Amino acid sequence: MKIISLVGARPNFMKIAPFIKAIVAFNSQLQSRNFEHRTSNIEPIKHLLVHTGQHYDNRLSQTFFEELGIPEADINLGIGSGTHAEQVGNTMIAFEKVLQKEKPDWVVVVGDVNATLAGSVTAKKEHIKCAHIEAGLRSGDLNMPEEINRLVTDRLSDLLFTPDHISGDNLRKEGVSEDRIKFVGNIMIDTLEANRRKAEALDIYGIIGNNLLFERPFKVPEENNYAVVTLHRPSNVDQKEIFGPITDFLTEEVSRDMPVIWPIHPRALKQLELFGLWDILKESDRMILLHPVGYLEMLRLNMGARVLLTDSGGLQEECTILGTPCLTLRWNTERPVTLRKHGGASVLVGNDIEKLRNEYHHSLMMKRNPVRPELWDGKTAERIVKELLDY
Ligand code: UD1
Repeated sequence: MKIISLVGARPNFMKIAPFIKAIVAFNSQLQSRNFEHRTSNIEPIKHLLVHTGQHYDNRLSQTFFEELGIPEADINLGIGSGTHAEQVGNTMIAFEKVLQKEKPDWVVVVGDVNATLAGSVTAKKEHIKCAHIEAGLRSGDLNMPEEINRLVTDRLSDLLFTPDHISGDNLRKEGVSEDRIKFVGNIMIDTLEANRRKAEALDIYGIIGNNLLFERPFKVPEENNYAVVTLHRPSNVDQKEIFGPITDFLTEEVSRDMPVIWPIHPRALKQLELFGLWDILKESDRMILLHPVGYLEMLRLNMGARVLLTDSGGLQEECTILGTPCLTLRWNTERPVTLRKHGGASVLVGNDIEKLRNEYHHSLMMKRNPVRPELWDGKTAERIVKELLDY
């Protein structure tokens, strides 16, 4: 069996790493079995990794490959930045050629980024089977580019690997037949569990020192007494009337209670500069402003945070497993199992500052409460490889 996996942006990398490891493990088991019995009609899986090149900064891409032990991509399509149509269109044009040459049995796509959409459409037009890891997530919000990517990818994919029961039910409501839906658990947690020990060994001082956006003396935050912030969604960072009050809240209120560690995504940094907010932020010595940090570094920061404020989907999931109180700056989520009302660690606050303030104060009174949803057990990738082989 020949599989091509397609990745493009940061949140894809921690999802593909365990899948590739599970393939390598399957192949080496097969090899030792073949060696013992000297015969077998099962072939090893041939896997090729294709990177669209959407995220091209070392800090958003290369670092993750190195830390997570992902082999260098066999092919890089070199797409880079652009509008959504440019990213999707350019990926399709380049990926079609790869598929015509390589003729894989399966294309595997992950998550909900532009590569996910471009990969599934191109595969199906080439009559190649497509599998989607992290299928069935729905925010119900078609203003999010990711929701469009999810809907199209799930409509086209032959196998839909879901992380929880709610996602499976979303697909059933859309009329997807039962044989295409495979509840396998959350592959992000395979990566979290495989790296927990390594992350624990990192120290906060080193993480900050390695990633400062500009040199300035800083006070090392105490364990369990700092906030971590990440923001990158257009709905939070693309309008000054929204991004301004959020940064004011962080600098004028949160940073008075505790230091705020903020690894800033390139999109957010551009907008801060454009809106004239960057100079104000830089003034506050309680705001620790960093480049985007690596996977292990973010995991370590999350482990010691008193509260996390984010618009990332993956962080909501990681907070659930680690138990960090999480304020999600969105009005909806495609990951309801991470919400407090479903037993998780996160609460939706949108970009309403009053709601953010109330929930922030409420979170300060909460204790860390780790929760493990069903099949978020570190073995999802194994189950996915088995399903592909059994198909
Ligand atoms: C993308 C994903 C989003 C994911 C996020 C995580 C889509 C539709 N969106 O959004 O789902 O949560 O990644 O990071 O695929 N840029 C750099 N360096 C880079 C990459 C981007 O400077 O390595 C700049 C781009 O030039 C652009 C901005 O950052 O101006 C945003 O990048 P873009 O690829 O459009 O999407 P993200 O906002 O990162």
